[in-house]
Amino acid sequence: MRERMELTFQVAIRTQATIGGDPYAGSMSTALVTGASAGIGKEFARQLAERGHDVVLVARDRARLENVSDQLRRSYGVRTEVLVADLSDRSDMGKVALRLADDLRPVDLLVNNAGHGLGEPFLDNDVDIEEQLFEVLCKAVLVLSHAAARGMRVRGHGALVNVSSVASFAATGTYSAAKSWVTAFSEGLASELAGTGVTVTALCPGFTRTEFHARAQLNMSHLPSALWLDAGDLVRACLDDVSRGKVVSVPGAQYKAMVGALRVLPRGLTRAASGGLHRRRRRPPA
Ligand SMILES: NC(=O)c1ccc[n+]([C@@H]2O[C@H](COP(=O)([O-])OP(=O)(O)OC[C@H]3O[C@@H](n4cnc5c(N)ncnc54)[C@H](OP(=O)(O)O)[C@@H]3O)[C@@H](O)[C@H]2O)c1
Repeated sequence: MRERMELTFQVAIRTQATIGGDPYAGSMSTALVTGASAGIGKEFARQLAERGHDVVLVARDRARLENVSDQLRRSYGVRTEVLVADLSDRSDMGKVALRLADDLRPVDLLVNNAGHGLGEPFLDNDVDIEEQLFEVLCKAVLVLSHAAARGMRVRGHGALVNVSSVASFAATGTYSAAKSWVTAFSEGLASELAGTGVTVTALCPGFTRTEFHARAQLNMSHLPSALWLDAGDLVRACLDDVSRGKVVSVPGAQYKAMVGALRVLPRGLTRAASGGLHRRRRRPPA
């Protein structure tokens, strides 16, 4: 009896997702989210499961992924898969690419979200650490987008979300350089896929309350509270933008204004402003 009730609930929730108008929904209903163990990625997985999508959860920490997976299955009755992968490792990246390219279990929405920041300027870091950042923020986005979008194009539907940053419009070291690549790459791929039924959205968050800053040991004490975004609001706004087929999504009025200004400011002014911000955010002395 209980099983039958659970099944009815699952069917109801799936029907709701199908008629909800999402370009990645309809008969399709599997999303793969990288960096799903925490922060923005975990919230993407939660909101997508809430809308009735099955989810494939990717990150390095198996215990945390299993925990998210159990919660989503219990709360929303969706199917979940856990795929443990370090996206700075080429062979792990390949495992995720293979899953995305599996035509028998199609993925309709890819969220390239995994990432981290660095607390030190470029020349003070080991080059290995800088290369790892590049692999996760850029190379994984390239390889996984390629693996997912080819199948989506053949099927005639699907969506990619590449989590970039407001920093992609600034000049704050290798992190913002990598995110500039993500935004430009997403815009180019969106044009390449125009008319195929597949959309690409670069999500450009401003400062968002997650584990990001603590992990990179960044000093955020100076940041006014008006500049902090909530991950739930951010993801909701992004999914609305994806439904509208928007190519660059900048949630939050304060960040829309900031990005508008950064796009028209002379680059010299942007560099000067970015340099000041960069120095203030540096890891506090040990
Ligand atoms: N928070 C912000 O203010 C902000 C602003 C703009 C853009 N962003 C971007 O938003 C994205 C998500 O960050 P967040 O704020 O949610 O940070 P977070 O809370 O620290 O979460 C980062 C996620 O990425 C995963 N991850 C990190 N390195 C990985 C690797 N090598 N392989 C696989 N997974 C990895 C982590 O999982 P494991 O540790 O389990 O692997 C975790 O699930 C990042 O791309 C970040 O650059 C964040």
